[in-house]
Amino acid sequence: MRETQGQTVQVSPLSDDLAFLDIVTEWDLSSAYHSWKPSIVVPPTFLPGTLPRVIAICNQKGGAGKTTTALELAMSLIARGLRVRLIDADPQEACLTVWLRYFWPEDLAEPARKSLEHLYFDQTVTLQDITYPTPYKGLYFVPSFPDLEDVETKHPTGTDTNLQYHLSKPDDGFDVTIIDCGPSLGPLTVSALVASQDVIIPVQAASGLDVRGAAALNRTIRSVQGRLNPQLRVASVVLTDFEKSTLARQIGGKLAKAYPNAVILPARTSVRIGEAQLDKEPLRVFAPTATTGLDYDRGASVLFGNKGAA
Ligand SMILES: Nc1ncnc2c1ncn2[C@@H]1O[C@H](COP(=O)(O)OP(=O)(O)OP(=O)(O)O)[C@@H](O)[C@H]1O
Ligand SMILES: [Mg+2]
Repeated sequence: MRETQGQTVQVSPLSDDLAFLDIVTEWDLSSAYHSWKPSIVVPPTFLPGTLPRVIAICNQKGGAGKTTTALELAMSLIARGLRVRLIDADPQEACLTVWLRYFWPEDLAEPARKSLEHLYFDQTVTLQDITYPTPYKGLYFVPSFPDLEDVETKHPTGTDTNLQYHLSKPDDGFDVTIIDCGPSLGPLTVSALVASQDVIIPVQAASGLDVRGAAALNRTIRSVQGRLNPQLRVASVVLTDFEKSTLARQIGGKLAKAYPNAVILPARTSVRIGEAQLDKEPLRVFAPTATTGLDYDRGASVLFGNKGAA
């Protein structure tokens, strides 16, 4: 693995006096709507994760906010001084590999440049071989391309446990690995779930369909817990594109009931996310005081306690 090339961008923790959401232990469904304040739910049973940690960001529903959550959570964690590896496990063309800038080794010609697909098909490739630096201090990236789809169709031997095998090697000094899954419950997503300790489920805060889809995801998570990875837990449900509404309140309530041990984190809506994507910048860098970035920052504090905090 190479170290950061070119200029490094230091990402700083956000100021405490910026208005964060409150933290409560239960989603409030009973107060009058006008006096209801959206908040972050941290159930009394929730324990912050230990390091090192692998987190899969999953929801088979397209456009739920997985990629945004993966990147912005990673940015919040590096701002806290943690060393983070982001893995793009989505074969779609419009994925994190297109959004995030990263550095290919300048001395490697195109055919020698390896990506996530090679980890499944070439036994000589290691995770370090496909982990590249980004412009952001502490953030490293594993890209993927549409060929990754071959894992879903050809199902190479050991697909389910491949990522787990590579991530269990005590080699690389990463505090947190975040896997951005594609919109499917196929072999790639299962392989990410088998390799992880935590799942984070982004759900569009105003989509009834996303809530229904969460039941199918729960079945897959239970099956992975039962067969291959008993330590897997749903650490958080992120309510993406969040705006205060009766529907968002109802959906938050349903999800808090479905995942009683998970942190429920509203990530407030921001048009600046689309602008940041066009500019190939994380929101955290493009618009450092956008409320969505603040929400992911607060989420990082809750999910990791004071680990890495400056
Ligand atoms: N908090 C938010 N506020 C406003 N828009 C958001 C928010 N989070 C995500 N979005 C927008 O929603 C769209 C989908 O987000 P994203 O690409 O993160 O979803 P995804 O689950 O990764 O999609 P896919 O399933 O296709 O991989 C994007 O255009 C993004 O800009
Ligand atoms: Mg995505």
